[in-house]
Amino acid sequence: MAAPASETPTNQDAEKRHAAATALGWVRSGMVLGLGSGSTSAAFITLLGEKVQAGELQIQATATSRASEALARQLGIPLLEPRQGLRFDLTVDGADELDAQLRLIKGGGGALLREKVLETASDYLLILADSSKYVAQLGRFPLPLEVVPFALPWVLDAVEALGGAPIVRPNAQQPDGLYRSDQGNLLVDCHFNVIADPAQLALQLQAIPGIVEHGLFLGMAQAAVVAQGARALVVRAGMPDAEAEGFAELP
Ligand code: 5RP
Repeated sequence: MAAPASETPTNQDAEKRHAAATALGWVRSGMVLGLGSGSTSAAFITLLGEKVQAGELQIQATATSRASEALARQLGIPLLEPRQGLRFDLTVDGADELDAQLRLIKGGGGALLREKVLETASDYLLILADSSKYVAQLGRFPLPLEVVPFALPWVLDAVEALGGAPIVRPNAQQPDGLYRSDQGNLLVDCHFNVIADPAQLALQLQAIPGIVEHGLFLGMAQAAVVAQGARALVVRAGMPDAEAEGFAELP
């Protein structure tokens, strides 16, 4: 029987799974992993769980969101609680946009704070993306900010002054109609359309009190796997894109 239209896998879904399967080929037993959030990360966690259940990989992991943690737990992936000194050999995560310099917009799923925490504690960040995410210039995807609720009015003023056209993320299921992060903070999506200078914008956002974290991830990822149909490309800053199948180990 055919799946309902809403469940019919798309080319984008297939590319996400392809990127996830490529990354899985570089995971080795003994690694401590960071697990990202969102649908691409979920595809990776699912494949990882199958390997763990089959006894083919012995790894430990910490997740960047409650949703990813629940999925990993359900699949029998051994989980580590946050503790001092904990570092990750490899974190695998998705992105909302990436450019050829491996600058990222993240946080479409609202997990940007925990993602940035784990990824800062990681020796290697590998980004997985379908082809729609790989862009010439960042900014068409609205840049997410995690914001302390008390500070919201002034954060909106400050982001407007930067040209960011902020929208507080809604969630119809919440009593106040607003989306909350795993930390109970608000999400503000900033419509810059074009971010000409991501480094300068990151500094400007860091200077606004009440913004707990912004979704620009600059200089953090070592490589990305971008699936384009049946191909998977490895993207690294300052290097030509290469076919992923040429890499037996992490690029
Ligand atoms: C969550 C994220 C996700 O990695 C990003 O939104 C991509 O999601 P998806 O894989 O579902 O397209 O940053 O905060």
